[in-house]
Amino acid sequence: MQLSINRLTHEVDVEEDMPLLWVLRDELGITGPKYGCGIAQCGACTVHIDGLAVRSCSIAASDVQGNVTTIEGLGTPESLHAVQTAWIEHQVAQCGYCQSGQIMAAASFLDFNSNPTDDDIDYAMSANLCRCGTYPRIREAVKSAAAKLNGA
Ligand code: FES
Ligand code: FES
Repeated sequence: MQLSINRLTHEVDVEEDMPLLWVLRDELGITGPKYGCGIAQCGACTVHIDGLAVRSCSIAASDVQGNVTTIEGLGTPESLHAVQTAWIEHQVAQCGYCQSGQIMAAASFLDFNSNPTDDDIDYAMSANLCRCGTYPRIREAVKSAAAKLNGA
């Protein structure tokens, strides 16, 4: 099957029911998305499909319609996404394991709500689990990214 990932077309020869996460990590070596639970409960594997946050552990690669973006393709080294910049400024990561999923979830969320309240952020991000408890820094970074995206 053919998959469009991070603006490149990839040809992969895999079982139809192989989850997208396995294709990304094991077939293509795109290891930003992480395996946490495998059952759509933690968010560590979050990627975008046409801009929408999707749990790549729980969608078969053959069911993917649209362009997949992983953390590797969210920005470029020369031009990071505003969420990535805010994450660095606020030093959000602790162990880091959940963080690519957090960033992908935040970037998609801000596409739909460009001026979120703290409650909006807490609600939107609560589905992405962080065992290190970085939630307060996540909230501050999302607010800061929203301000950047709004030109402040
Ligand atoms: S690994 Fe996909 S949601 Fe946990
Ligand atoms: S930074 Fe360690 S799990 Fe989130």
